[in-house]
Amino acid sequence: MRDIGLANITEIASASFGGLADERQRELVHKLVLALHAYAKDVGLSHAEWRAALGFVHRTAAITNESRSEFSLLSDVIGLSSLVDLMASDAKATPGSVLGPFHTAGSPWLDNPANLIGANAGQAVVLRGRVCGAQGQPLPLATLDFWQNAANGLYWQIDPEQPTDNLRCRLCVDAQGCFEIATIRPVPYQIPTDGPVWKELVEPAGRSSWRSAHAHLIVAAPEHKTLVTELFDAEDPYLDSDAVFGVREALVGRYLPVSDAALCARLGLPGDSCLVMQLELRLAAQA
Ligand code: BEZ
Ligand code: FE
Repeated sequence: MRDIGLANITEIASASFGGLADERQRELVHKLVLALHAYAKDVGLSHAEWRAALGFVHRTAAITNESRSEFSLLSDVIGLSSLVDLMASDAKATPGSVLGPFHTAGSPWLDNPANLIGANAGQAVVLRGRVCGAQGQPLPLATLDFWQNAANGLYWQIDPEQPTDNLRCRLCVDAQGCFEIATIRPVPYQIPTDGPVWKELVEPAGRSSWRSAHAHLIVAAPEHKTLVTELFDAEDPYLDSDAVFGVREALVGRYLPVSDAALCARLGLPGDSCLVMQLELRLAAQA
């Protein structure tokens, strides 16, 4: 290995990880080295550019801590998170979408139907859904983990005014796979703009900092692949410019006025009509 040159550096560097015991890790590292070398050759990467890139990585690390990952944000804004979500999505199932940084395990279990509105300001809406398998069969053992932001755009984790369990819950669907959640209409939300990802990459590109309004869901059922996804609002202005590429047509629903006194009574909503988004969540069978 004493005569390393342009002709052999890539093969030698990638092959040097052949000692990794885990076959999959070996493949991941080997191909990563190949891809990075190919990129550097393709763009003719200079010393100055290489140092600048490492500086960006250092600044990304410097602002990252237990509760804030600038690296996740980087993955989100370059579409890598969504690419992984899309590759993991099954064609016969509801597509996945970004988990985002605001899922916290341990949301309270509530009875279905659930009302999360509490003291929140905002427009009351109902999410009314059915969880089914790829053939449309109901999945009565499915569970949901739900979370969204408040009327000020913030999630409870970054808003000291909100109680810990604000606008989040877990619940079990009924025997038909159905659930109803009364909540407030989610509002658009900005990705963090105080770090290098926004300041050095996304803003200079002239891109939007806004995420299209959404609610998050993790749907799990025995013998089915867990679905991590989001629900979007057909009337939201940022559907076509979501900062993290999370929007999929199948995840966009419309809040429609429904006159149903029994529904309002079940959910503890005043009056006899409400805005309802109807949805179906299809899970793929476990391979
Ligand atoms: C969110 O869903 O709230 C989110 C996702 C990615 C980056 C920032 C926020
Ligand atoms: Fe979110």
